Amino acid sequence: MPGSQHEIVVIGTGYVGLTTGACLARLGHRVTCVDIDAAKLAAIEEGRLPIHEDGLLELVTAGQKAGGLKFTTDLLSSVGEADFVFLCLPTPAGPDGSADMSSIVDVIGQLKGHLPSECVVVNKSTVPVNSAKMIADLLGEPRVDVVSNPEFLREGSAVEDFLNPDRIVIGSDDPLAGERVGALYLGSRCPVLVTDPVSAETIKYLANAFLAMKISFVNQAAEFCDVVGADVLEVMRGLSYDPRIGSEFLNPGPGWGGSCFPKDTRALAASARALGRPMTLVDEAIGANDEHIAYVANVILEACESFEHRPKIGVLGLSFKANTDDTRESPALAIIDRLVRYPAEVVAYDRLARVEDTAGLARCDNLTDVLTGADVVAILTEWPEFTELSPSDFSGTMRGNTIVDTRYVLDTGLFAESGLRVVSVGRQRPRIDKR
Ligand code: UDX
Repeated sequence: MPGSQHEIVVIGTGYVGLTTGACLARLGHRVTCVDIDAAKLAAIEEGRLPIHEDGLLELVTAGQKAGGLKFTTDLLSSVGEADFVFLCLPTPAGPDGSADMSSIVDVIGQLKGHLPSECVVVNKSTVPVNSAKMIADLLGEPRVDVVSNPEFLREGSAVEDFLNPDRIVIGSDDPLAGERVGALYLGSRCPVLVTDPVSAETIKYLANAFLAMKISFVNQAAEFCDVVGADVLEVMRGLSYDPRIGSEFLNPGPGWGGSCFPKDTRALAASARALGRPMTLVDEAIGANDEHIAYVANVILEACESFEHRPKIGVLGLSFKANTDDTRESPALAIIDRLVRYPAEVVAYDRLARVEDTAGLARCDNLTDVLTGADVVAILTEWPEFTELSPSDFSGTMRGNTIVDTRYVLDTGLFAESGLRVVSVGRQRPRIDKR
């Protein structure tokens, strides 16, 4: 695409930054990715990516080979010729839930006075509303255009989401700067919403909050189904035919987690409270998620109650969802924490998950070791390899006969024929009669 190639600097090589850099290089731009972590960049350059993301390694390798994708720790010398500087920096939750902006403030302090006059700063980090203005103010005079361009990348399909987005949101006070950012995505066939920065920043928070609320609703509905004896999967199917509700994001599970929903809902709730207009529905969604995680852990522990010895629980899946190695805020880890404190012996298998703190948890590198001698098995992540398991994988290997399927991946009827009890929240699970 001669003529539409631009010099782009992407600051931060987390899953958003690395995906953004590699995909912009794929779109034909000359991209330099900057990070303070030299060891991480060296590993990326050697083809060892810090995250597992479908198709990303191929894009990084191709970009490097074509010369359009470079990596450096030298921020200032990289921005000298930049047409665009993308901010893809972490904004973790601070102690009160609000987004910690220190990485961004630090980088902007370094950039001040060093950006070429036509350079546009594009913010992809999820930031409190009004941050574009705050960043522009920090950059000082002469004024630099700061455009909000939130990401809507799902881990596991981030490359696909970047190259085939369902929408592009651009928030800019300057129409020309907004247009220039939009032109970077030329060829994407999706609605492009050009709006003001405050609205763009708000869209990002509310999109994630809405999705989190939707799952909290589904999970609370599953608990209700337990009480009334309905089947949550049938109920959700019934809801999904209403186009106003839709069929996406209606899967009950062990609770929502990951690097975005927990952090972004807390940040939104904190800022709404600070602004004197609390978003109580978001507060409720967060609380309902915590309660649901506890509820799911109790379902697993109820299945352990019949054993007089310290039960062995085999856990399948640690990542917060399938197709990612990310365990940040994974419901699986929160549930395991409760199981370990029961106290149960917990052994877990996940082919990819990165777990830093494994206190009280024994990790196995194969499925058989987890199933062997297990009193109860709990499926906590919907990895495809677990959906393919058959009754014969469990019977004769497990000591007990109960599998708690928190992801609804097993065929309950088929397993029952083999004398195995599959228990799932909201599926008329037989209650243990304590009288
Ligand atoms: C999310 C948003 O989808 C994405 O647009 C945003 O930019 C970043 O945050 P991600 O964190 O990758 O993406 O995960 P997502 O696929 O949205 O799932 C979030 C959590 O909800 C997971 O724990 C998942 O297991 C759970 N979930 C999702 C359900 O329990 N049921 C569903 O139906 C969907």
